[in-house]
Amino acid sequence: MERTPVMTSINANWEEFYSKEISEKLPFFAKEDRLYDCLFAQQFDREILTGLFKTADALRTLTQHKEGMDFISNLLSDKRAMLYFVQPSTRTFLSFLNACHIMGIKTSEIRDTSTSSEVKGESAEDTVRTFSSYVDMIIMRHPTPGFVEKTAWLMNRTNRPVPIINGGSGKDQHPTQALLDTYTLYRSFNGEMDNKTIVMVGDLKRGRTVRSLTYLMKNYKNIKLAFVSPGQFRMEPDILEFLKRHNMPYVETEDFSSVMKEADAIYMTRIQDEHDKAGESGKVDYSPFYFRREHLKLIKKTCVIMHPLPRRHEIEVSVDEDPRAVFWRQERNGMWARAALISHIFGVDSKIKH
Ligand code: NCD
Repeated sequence: MERTPVMTSINANWEEFYSKEISEKLPFFAKEDRLYDCLFAQQFDREILTGLFKTADALRTLTQHKEGMDFISNLLSDKRAMLYFVQPSTRTFLSFLNACHIMGIKTSEIRDTSTSSEVKGESAEDTVRTFSSYVDMIIMRHPTPGFVEKTAWLMNRTNRPVPIINGGSGKDQHPTQALLDTYTLYRSFNGEMDNKTIVMVGDLKRGRTVRSLTYLMKNYKNIKLAFVSPGQFRMEPDILEFLKRHNMPYVETEDFSSVMKEADAIYMTRIQDEHDKAGESGKVDYSPFYFRREHLKLIKKTCVIMHPLPRRHEIEVSVDEDPRAVFWRQERNGMWARAALISHIFGVDSKIKH
């Protein structure tokens, strides 16, 4: 898929571009009515989301039989993808890798900068530009906030742009996790997404999944959010301002049991201590933010318990047996949701849905 770079004055200088409101930047990362690069959760509107969920459902069904699998794996068999994951990852990496393979895309990977020419002093920007000489799409996870966006910005200004997908950038955004989380809600609620109460629990300050998921919830009507966290790890003000701007009601509390009963979904997260500068995580008692077996009798019969994983102790293992614990299904949904996204970017989704 070739694309002519859009060269306008706001796009000429990275610092200037980076400081713009996301809404102003979105056209630069889109192509006609599709996403070209997938960088922010704010890129998904309700219509795109529903379309992706329908594609994901169709992929699940079609690939149950060899004939369907062969059809799907032919759709993008002329494409190659690079997975550049220089921050630890199990699920995001493996689900993207397998999503590519389902779609017939050939893959290559770098998972550690010590094995790339970055050790010889090449800039990260030059390294990722090199990938685009060989592949048709780059999927990346990077510890530096804004780096994935910068890569897309750089690439869109070259003669050979390729789509960039954000597989997690710093503490900032994880749009495809939010996509699979919302797909899991969609399946759990039989497509009835409005009028729900979503409770997010844990390290909300440094968790990128809850930030991106909050952005996506704006696409649905009458959603109530409850943020449960230790005082030190409350949701950041930019997200709270986003909610106020869009008239989305929320509460913040340290008392998990006070919001549990109302929840249609409880989204658990772990403490993100890899971001510690002065060992601040060690000073926090995280145990009030655990979901325990005894909580199962307090929550609604229809409430789903989610987690982006990896888990530490936030959810007692015996909870896994309860049908409301959907995090293992959520993990697998990631592969289908990501395959659907890739098919949307390359414009083959209509062939899957029909
Ligand atoms: C999350 C991440 O990397 O942000 N994991 C994931 O992608 N499934 C959550 C986490 O690491 O806590």
